[in-house]
Amino acid sequence: MNMKTNEPNKKAEQLDLHSTSNENEKLTTNQGLKINNNQDSLKAGGRGPSLLEDFILREKITHFDHERIPERVVHARGSGAHGIFKLNKSLADYTKAGFLTKVGKETPVFVRFSTVAGSKGSTDLARDVRGFAIKFYTEEGNYDLVGNNMPVFFIQDAMKFPDLIHAVKPEPDNEIPQAASAHDTFWDFISLMPESMHMVMWLMSDRAIPRSLRMMEGFGVHSYKFINDEGKVHFVKFHFKPKLGVHSVAWNEAQVISGVDSDFHKRDLWEAIENGDYPEWDFGVQLIPEDDEHKFDFDLLDPTKLVPEEEVPVEIFGTLTLNRNPDNFFAETEQVAFHPGHIIPGIDFTNDPLLQGRLFSYTDTQLSRLGSPNFHEIPINRSINTVHNNQRDGHMRQQIVKGKSSYDPNSTGGGCPFQAMMSEGGFVSQEERVSGTKIRERSKSFVDHYSQAKLFYNSQSTPEKQHLENALIFELSKVSLPEVRERLVGQLAYIDMILASRVAEKLGVEVKKLDWPNQSLPADSTIAD
Ligand code: HEM
Repeated sequence: MNMKTNEPNKKAEQLDLHSTSNENEKLTTNQGLKINNNQDSLKAGGRGPSLLEDFILREKITHFDHERIPERVVHARGSGAHGIFKLNKSLADYTKAGFLTKVGKETPVFVRFSTVAGSKGSTDLARDVRGFAIKFYTEEGNYDLVGNNMPVFFIQDAMKFPDLIHAVKPEPDNEIPQAASAHDTFWDFISLMPESMHMVMWLMSDRAIPRSLRMMEGFGVHSYKFINDEGKVHFVKFHFKPKLGVHSVAWNEAQVISGVDSDFHKRDLWEAIENGDYPEWDFGVQLIPEDDEHKFDFDLLDPTKLVPEEEVPVEIFGTLTLNRNPDNFFAETEQVAFHPGHIIPGIDFTNDPLLQGRLFSYTDTQLSRLGSPNFHEIPINRSINTVHNNQRDGHMRQQIVKGKSSYDPNSTGGGCPFQAMMSEGGFVSQEERVSGTKIRERSKSFVDHYSQAKLFYNSQSTPEKQHLENALIFELSKVSLPEVRERLVGQLAYIDMILASRVAEKLGVEVKKLDWPNQSLPADSTIAD
């Protein structure tokens, strides 16, 4: 049963089948043999050498030796929780996705929050973006919404992702620093990337130091597509708004908390759920009819832009509630494998070039992180639908598929599954006419890098502006290269001249208008005054 309702929770039942408890049990080896002495190894005499024969010692140590798996290449530090997604208002006019059409429908979810840059053991209080990844265990298959707590991203094209991450991660020679932003390589990269400036304004704002994971917004970031029963298409932006409101800590508070308890966010989420204080979010969408794709002064496919809520309001359709802590951090939070490519009928991708690259990256990285093509069989990753296909074998295969053949087409009646028609729930990609010259180039419609950065800065209250300014001064003061500080200030000048001058003064550099020989600025772009 769901803890807040009387609905059976198919995912919880499925996980239960794989759960065990050691309470009041006798210790055994992995072969089920009861162990009589767990204190001493087998030796030739009390002081004698240990014997190779000691299969119990060997098994125990061998397993221990292999306990670690690689941490995620990004978003390594995370906290997870189970919950339910309840639909309060139907989206059937826009999408045929079952879990978004039946009012009252409850869908089990697993959510993982994360920081991006730090390693698995880093502090929760880093000034950083937070991941907000949701796995919906729907009756049509797993649907993953792998988002962040900020509505835009640093880069416009997947080609730049490894560079961004190499710049933000600790420097390669000395593995310093863990902090997301306080170093030469990050700011060097950013100062050369005007497209990052909108996201950098968010990153330097209070949004980057949440008070609690329960008090953060979640965003899908990219534009996705909804497709309804009649094939009608809407662009959609996903939003999760915390019922507790959005709250942050100030930087000086963050540093103190971090020193006293670097697990502050992890502990807060865990304790809230243990105490029955279940965090909740309103689920909302911004819907844009397909025909309106080009009516904005930015490109909907550009992930460095948001759709202003004044232009397209967020409509609320459901509630996300987290109501159960994992039983085992490694088995669930660490082994969960999210992927923006896990979609279901009624939802589709857009041609956002960042999203398109992500569609390749996640399974690829999980193959090495989790070590086997069968990681979809790990309980936390299993669909609540049974899985039927002709894939077979591979390391750690769990499922025992009966039958004599595993190919299609097949006339032997050997037990092979059949493809599903669309009317039976078979997934069909949205038919979209595409044409173009094969070219390695950025669309001209992606070129305005500063307007929304300005809008964001101007939307901040006076204390928030002060925090943002202080953050820039603090972070840039850690940068040893004066030319990097100066270049970054030159970028700020396109956003707000007063901000640029104040930061420049504190850093001891001049505000110089940047000339971007290789980066096309909007034709009418001028230095802000
Ligand atoms: C995790 C790649 C952009 C959100 C990851 C991981 C990779 C990756 C390799 C580790 C996955 C794992 O080990 O399970 C990329 C690439 C991107 C990109 C190549 C751009 C081309 C984004 C964007 C967002 C995002 C734009 C937000 C909208 C996340 C989140 C996680 C993650 C939340 C952590 C998921 C979890 O909790 O397990 N990404 N990413 N990423 N990414 Fe991205």
